[in-house]
Amino acid sequence: MERRPERAGRAWLARAALLGLVLLAAACAENYPQSTLHPRSDITRLIDSVFRTTFWWALVVFVLVEGALVYALWRFRARPNDPEPAQTHGNTTLEIVWTAIPAVILVLIAVPTVRTIFKTSLPIANPDVEVDVIGHQWWWEFRYPKLGVVTANELVVPVGKKIGLRMWSADVVHSFWSPQLASKRDVFPVFSQTKNKKVNPLWFTADSVGDYTGQCAELCGIEHGRMGLRVLVKQAADFDSWVAQQRVGSPLVNAGKLEAAADSAMKTDSIMTKGQTAFLGGGCISCHAMMGTPLAGALTLRGPNLSHVGSRTTIGANMYENTPTNLAAWLRDPQGMKKGSHMILPRPLTDDEITTLVAYLRAHK
Ligand code: CUA
Repeated sequence: MERRPERAGRAWLARAALLGLVLLAAACAENYPQSTLHPRSDITRLIDSVFRTTFWWALVVFVLVEGALVYALWRFRARPNDPEPAQTHGNTTLEIVWTAIPAVILVLIAVPTVRTIFKTSLPIANPDVEVDVIGHQWWWEFRYPKLGVVTANELVVPVGKKIGLRMWSADVVHSFWSPQLASKRDVFPVFSQTKNKKVNPLWFTADSVGDYTGQCAELCGIEHGRMGLRVLVKQAADFDSWVAQQRVGSPLVNAGKLEAAADSAMKTDSIMTKGQTAFLGGGCISCHAMMGTPLAGALTLRGPNLSHVGSRTTIGANMYENTPTNLAAWLRDPQGMKKGSHMILPRPLTDDEITTLVAYLRAHK
């Protein structure tokens, strides 16, 4: 049976309306952790306000222009036996009006936009917490020079405090982005800079405690899509105890002589002795600084500093939960867990070594 054209048209319209509703519902949903539409800091609220200003102007223009168009199409549509309509050539008043109105609207959008660009690009004066952010293929390093902390992939900050970031890259161009907390900002390799000019600043003050995700936003190689990060916003007291814990054995605190100081208390523990042997014997030391080992004093080797890896919630740059199972799988086959990662085992680790290393790494809170 042939479908009647108007019924097919109505079905098409119903489908289009349904799609529109789904898109609208998706846009309004709350559970998208990397949506810029739910700002949780001063800087992202500024950016959101520019977005909303532009959006409302665009909506007004859309309704007026499309309304006029639809009205004209309907009102002046051709009817059978119509005479030829009057021919018009130019209308100076109309042309001035439709040039002037958009120009005014553009100024009203441009002024807050340019003002916000300047405001968000400058470094902040006297931040409460300073963090150096270093992009690596494919993970993030966070150093707190004044607090003596060096960590990876999880930026921990106190709520309500001004955070000042200084950012650069150890290899290629990356882009730091935590959509709810901080604007997107490129990080450039240090060798391309002259007199620190390419160290990019970024600042934010988070207004609610929480666990926020982020993402590298500049194509930087095979694992660009898995160069994730987390920003853990804590109450001041929780942040202070985190700092105290991370300072133990930190190369930024005890520069020079760490082997003795680091985990002397832990040395008696058999997990620590066995773990250190496996860490050195398995070749981990060639890429990872670790407290209690001969390279404890190194700030960063090729891979993340592991001195407090047990305190992190994720591994592989926000790719896997930091669980014994995932750690073991990672140690067994890093390339299988994150293809193209720079972690290549010099030789396969034995089951015994993996069990020992998992316990050892997890004990380093
Ligand atoms: Cu780093 Cu994309």
